Amino acid sequence: MQFFLDSCDVQRISELHDIGLVDGITTNPSLVAKSGRKHAELLKEICSIIKGPVSAQVLSSDASGMLSEAKELLQISEQIVIKVPSTWEGLKVCKQLTDNGHPVNVTLCFSTAQALLAAKAGATYISPFIGRLDDIGGDGMGMIADICMAFENYPDIATQVLVASVRSPLHVVEAAKIGADIVTLPPHLLGQMLQHSLTDRGLEAFMNDSKAH
Ligand code: E4P
Repeated sequence: MQFFLDSCDVQRISELHDIGLVDGITTNPSLVAKSGRKHAELLKEICSIIKGPVSAQVLSSDASGMLSEAKELLQISEQIVIKVPSTWEGLKVCKQLTDNGHPVNVTLCFSTAQALLAAKAGATYISPFIGRLDDIGGDGMGMIADICMAFENYPDIATQVLVASVRSPLHVVEAAKIGADIVTLPPHLLGQMLQHSLTDRGLEAFMNDSKAH
């Protein structure tokens, strides 16, 4: 399973990348706004830190606007993956870009039906949002299981399942057990994944015992 960071925090990206935990980055307009940085300049810096794919979302709602934004973003680096919403206009752009060899991440996916359409339009990645679906009483992890099961039935589907809106270490473990290709995580979740009170207690006991001699 690949780990992407869902972050625009270049310092955290760099630190976690140095430990080998980062295979790629996803960004979104809210994260970019939070960083207070200019979009292009921020993406350029992220691409200089990591070698993997970096998803950058377009903001237009029509296909021609999305395509002209995509053109600009693709100039930044070969690592850029254009992120489009799960809408008709987004799917049009997905088809055009992937036909021209550019990777596309279809975001804001909340159903298996949307994932199937994105795969049909040639998406490189589909991003089903599990946390936000859970928030409205849906079954985020059930959606991941259904998408993975459906994709497995059709070996010609090359779209990778990029589990998004991840809220807990358990989400990561469950997604890995299902066999999802990638999870994208806010940096603090990697810390939560590593944390275990028995590790802390065991380490403390080992240190104390070693001092006793
Ligand atoms: C993924 O590409 C999205 O940026 C992200 O996972 C959204 O997560 P949130 O629901 O925690 O904002």
